Amino acid sequence: MNDPTALDQAVRTVLEDYEARAEREEKVWSTLSSEEAARRRDEMLLPVGRATGTFLNLLVKSGEARRILEIGSSYGYSTTWLAEGARAVGGKVTSLENKVEKTEYASAQLARAGLSEYVEFVIGDALASIRTLAGPFDLVLIDLWKDLYVPVFELLYPKLAQGAIVVADNMLQPESARIHARAYRERVRVARDVTSVLLSIGNGIEVSRFQ
Ligand SMILES: C[S@@+](CC[C@H](N)C(=O)[O-])C[C@H]1O[C@@H](n2cnc3c(N)ncnc32)[C@H](O)[C@@H]1O
Repeated sequence: MNDPTALDQAVRTVLEDYEARAEREEKVWSTLSSEEAARRRDEMLLPVGRATGTFLNLLVKSGEARRILEIGSSYGYSTTWLAEGARAVGGKVTSLENKVEKTEYASAQLARAGLSEYVEFVIGDALASIRTLAGPFDLVLIDLWKDLYVPVFELLYPKLAQGAIVVADNMLQPESARIHARAYRERVRVARDVTSVLLSIGNGIEVSRFQ
């Protein structure tokens, strides 16, 4: 089968390894009660998936987004897609995560993919980290725990570049996140100078443009 993406072999191999792990985890995840899922969620990649990964990658390349912020790196799947785009346009990804063991894994995968120099991890609470970052950002992925989307947006909004794109994952799936997803969309859509649309890609993404 032809790979529809223009990715080099090292990047493809890393992404395929992530996807094989995600498929194994999905089988386990679907059997867990909500209590077990909450207890074990840090074991899992919980990735954006290939469709959203590809979409993020093409947004970076087509918009020549150089100042990229990822909020919720997990084990580095979406980071890899963003970093591959960053390499193509001469950009850099700043990626926020509060679990150091996840960023260690992510760093090893990015090294395998040949993308280390395009990513800087900032370890700690994302809300605190965003306060310390000057911005402005051209492209942002919001994909941390869902109750934090609105507070993250409040901090992020003044740091968006003209024409910035913000992508927020998990707008449609999982169902348990819908209440927070709806609150996020309502907030974004009343923000001044923001145009926003819900797209049925992957888990459902809200794509918003500033000015
Ligand atoms: C859904 S996962 C991210 C998946 C990742 N974007 C991907 O596609 O591979 C959410 C991540 O956000 C992190 N996270 C949650 N709350 C956070 C916070 N307050 N500060 C930093 N990271 C946080 C979690 O540890 C978890 O790794």
